[in-house]
Amino acid sequence: MLPPAVKETALSTARNMVPSENTVHVSFAPAESARVYDIVIGQDILAQAGERLAAVLTSKKICIVTDETVARLYLVNLMKNLEMSGFNACPPVILPAGERTKNFEHLQNIIDRFSSYKLDRSATIVALGGGVVGDIAGFAAAIFMRGAGFAQIPTTLLAQVDSSVGGKTGINTAAGKNLAGAFHQPKIVLIDTGVLKTLPPRELKAGYAEILKYALIGDPDFFAWLEQNGATLLAGDAAAQEYAIGKSCRAKAAIVVADEDERKDIRALLNLGHSFGHALEALGGYDGRILHGEAVGTGCLLAFEFSRDRGLCPAEDVERLRGHMQKAGLMTEPPFKAAAEDMFARMQSDKKNRDGRTTLVLARGIGRAFVAGDIVAADVLAFLKKRF
Ligand code: NAD
Ligand code: GLY
Repeated sequence: MLPPAVKETALSTARNMVPSENTVHVSFAPAESARVYDIVIGQDILAQAGERLAAVLTSKKICIVTDETVARLYLVNLMKNLEMSGFNACPPVILPAGERTKNFEHLQNIIDRFSSYKLDRSATIVALGGGVVGDIAGFAAAIFMRGAGFAQIPTTLLAQVDSSVGGKTGINTAAGKNLAGAFHQPKIVLIDTGVLKTLPPRELKAGYAEILKYALIGDPDFFAWLEQNGATLLAGDAAAQEYAIGKSCRAKAAIVVADEDERKDIRALLNLGHSFGHALEALGGYDGRILHGEAVGTGCLLAFEFSRDRGLCPAEDVERLRGHMQKAGLMTEPPFKAAAEDMFARMQSDKKNRDGRTTLVLARGIGRAFVAGDIVAADVLAFLKKRF
């Protein structure tokens, strides 16, 4: 059962529904102060970062973690802005951009830098960047002195609608994606839609796939809205972007508040497309041929196809999904040859599998996802052999 907020409908054009600033309040029970935070969404939020952070942080000691690309674009202004609000920022930690950075070596370097700055656990680590920066900086914050403060300033569409919300942090290991990590909630998430102007179109589409995921999980009306407004959003319309980001953050917040550590088969819904998608990413060697969002989008389509083959999902919904993805220019097929046996082997190490049972997020139609814990592994292999 989805929490009610996930079912909220929104059939309207983007323009006449969007307030200039949009705040999503995330509150875990019991609502101790550290377990409550706001996701602030708007078109000039970066310029307000100092005052927004000052309003929620008790210490003025902060350290920004970012990547080389984002640093070139946004770091200097952010540092100045924080200084004006009285923050004492350490020299920033600037990582190489890209998925391969999410590893133990970089994690250790980040922790060593925090130690060299003599940070203590009252300090706040500010992640400025996409999901890679957010995940590794958040994990570093979670384990540094058993937990320093953490704030997110996500700069990709994917990070704005997914990775910055909900407190999952982590790195990849040799065995697969995100296999080391921790839950560590941020104290605030600041989402500036203006930074999407510099995001390459391919990255924008990768983030759009995660927006689509929320519609596929529990909101058929939002799917219809995306069919109407997706092209406008991808063309850079700030109002459409802000509306869809708010909608996505609300959907995710409702789910993570109901099942923070993914033990009740609610948060697992957010992994729609991920079992297939993570396998594709791993097969691609994280070399940039398939981005995380592209893998998730392709994985969602595979999950719908698998659901159809099991007699769960109407074929029309699968074709409607494929049609929208193709129209939006999203990836629908892996860009390299994915051998069925290799994909299957990767899917066996999925975190959702329990006690040797294969678990997949499947769908009874658009907006009707559910967690299926009774999947026969041989059926998955047969599907992959037919498909690839
Ligand atoms: P990313 O962090 O690699 O960013 C993509 C690229 O865009 C990078 O090269 C980056 O430098 C660049 N970039 C970032 N902001 C930019 C901007 N405004 N303008 C120009 N370039 C910019 O990738 P991503 O897609 O943001 O995140 C993917 C990662 O997020 C994966 O590792 C995935 O596992 C993780 N993720 C985590 C969660 C979670 O809940 N923690 C959820 C979804 C995804
Ligand atoms: N992106 C999946 C989750 O946050 O649970």
